[in-house]
This record gives sequence, structure tokens and C-alpha cells, in this order.
Amino acid sequence: MRRNGYKYLILRCTTTGAYNYRDSEWNYSDIPHLNYVHTKVEGYSFYSDNERIVNMFMQKFGPFCIPVTNYIEHTDMKKHSYVMNILGMVVSVTTTHQSEDILKAKTTTEYKFFYRNFLEKLLAIAIKFATRKNYKVLMSEDVPMRIQRGLLRKNKISFRSDKSNKIGFSETEDLNKVNVDATNFFKLKKSFLVDINFKEEKKHIKELFLTVINFNNQISLLGDICQHEGANLSYEYDTKIKKCRTACPWHGKVISPLLVINKSDKNNHKFTYLNQRFNVQIISQGLLINII
Ligand code: FES
Ligand SMILES: [Fe+2]
Repeated sequence: MRRNGYKYLILRCTTTGAYNYRDSEWNYSDIPHLNYVHTKVEGYSFYSDNERIVNMFMQKFGPFCIPVTNYIEHTDMKKHSYVMNILGMVVSVTTTHQSEDILKAKTTTEYKFFYRNFLEKLLAIAIKFATRKNYKVLMSEDVPMRIQRGLLRKNKISFRSDKSNKIGFSETEDLNKVNVDATNFFKLKKSFLVDINFKEEKKHIKELFLTVINFNNQISLLGDICQHEGANLSYEYDTKIKKCRTACPWHGKVISPLLVINKSDKNNHKFTYLNQRFNVQIISQGLLINII
């Protein structure tokens, strides 16, 4: 760009928070949250593999909706680099994910707005101003996801992707993947006996991140944490379909109960949650949950 006579304006934005730098990396690679979590962006992906993605955002700036074409590369776990085209203007962006501590990360995004003449400089100033505002909106939607993952990590819950060299774009699109691993968390727990004659519909077993729903002579066991990437879930009983379920707030996946048992059923039942096997049985005193 410089060889062709371009100059640039620079904008540097930094966000720090109580999460691991890999949560920041994941957030920037994660394709499916774009259209669920972000309110000012609608994303269309034309091509993606684990190292690069070509997409277009319909970006809302106040009353306007502007198409932004994007080429993003992620060849190093600590960096995402992009080239964007906004209203004919070239913007290059580098986001770095730095670790300040095991549960403290610093994410720095540096934008360069290229221009050649006075008119283009005016446009660059306007886009820089809008980008600064937009960054705040994006972070207000992204950072709570990272913080939730930080809270899980505090409880010794990890992510299988922590072991990989980098979190690629296309691998984030498989919503059936169980990436949350709570085996170290459950290792410290014992058996649990839950009274199932409670009057209210829902009971949270905070110690196991589980919810028990008692309805129509049936006990439903539901996970409070989405097994895909760790979102917090909360369920309602849908009287129309006579089932408890919810849609994950991060990626929209419909989540059903882990197990549904009739109150008269005294058999042993097994299920897997967050990579941990469980065994449950209704006994005379209530519902016995064993970690196996
Ligand atoms: S975190 Fe991805 S579907 Fe819930
Ligand atoms: Fe995001």
C-alpha cells in the first residue's frame, strides 16, 4: 500500500479480562456466534478452513447498514490478521491475544485505515470514528462469553481445544462437538442425593452444574453448561411439546435434557455430561446421582 502512495490512520483498542488468552483466540475464530451474539452485524461466510476465512458482514452504523468484505488469517494461535474493505477503503487489522496470567488475557486490535488524498482521509477519519464506537459494542457482546469461560476455568473446567496448536475457523462450526471438559471438576465430587418431591418446577444442583425439573410425574436432568463451548443455559418446561429444552444463547443450538426418567422407574440410568460419565437411580429417598 505504501509503495502505491497510501498513508494510514491508526487506531489501537485493548481489552483485558479474567479469562485465558485462548478464550480470546477462540472468540475471534468462532464463526457461529456472529449471527447470534452480535446485534449490529450479520455475517455471511463464503469460504473457510482452519487458517483462513473470506466473509462479508452487513455492519450497522447508526441508521446505515454497510457491507464489509473481510479476509482473515489465523496461522498463529496468538494472532488474527485481516484485510477489510469498507466503502472502497482498505483497512488492515491485527488482533493479538496475550497472556498476562493463567486467568488474565490482554487482547489488542490495531486498525490501519489507508488513504491517499484529502477526500479519502476524511472518509478514513469517519470510518475510524465509527470503528471505535463499534468496537465498544462488539466487546460488550463478546467479553461476557470469555468471562463465562474464565469462570469455568476457575472451577478446573477446561476446553479440549486448549491442547491444539490453534483454534481454526471451520472447526468452530461443528455445534455437536463437546469441547468442555469437566472431568477434573467432577473428580472432587461425591455422590449426590436429590429430593425429588420438591414443589417448585426446577431445582438447581449448583455443585454439579445440573438442573432437575419435576413435571408430570417425570424427572428431567439438564446441564446448566452448554457442552459445546460453555455457555450458561436456563430451561423452561414447554407445555406444548411436554418437554424441557432451551436454545443456546451463543450459537442457537437446541438443547434437550440429558435424561428423562419416570418417577416410578427404579432402574439404573447412565448419561455423559461435560465428558464425565454419570449413573442415576431413583431410590426411596430421592434421586441418587453417582459420578463414575
Ligand atoms: S456454546 Fe455452542 S451451542 Fe452452546
Ligand atoms: Fe464476536
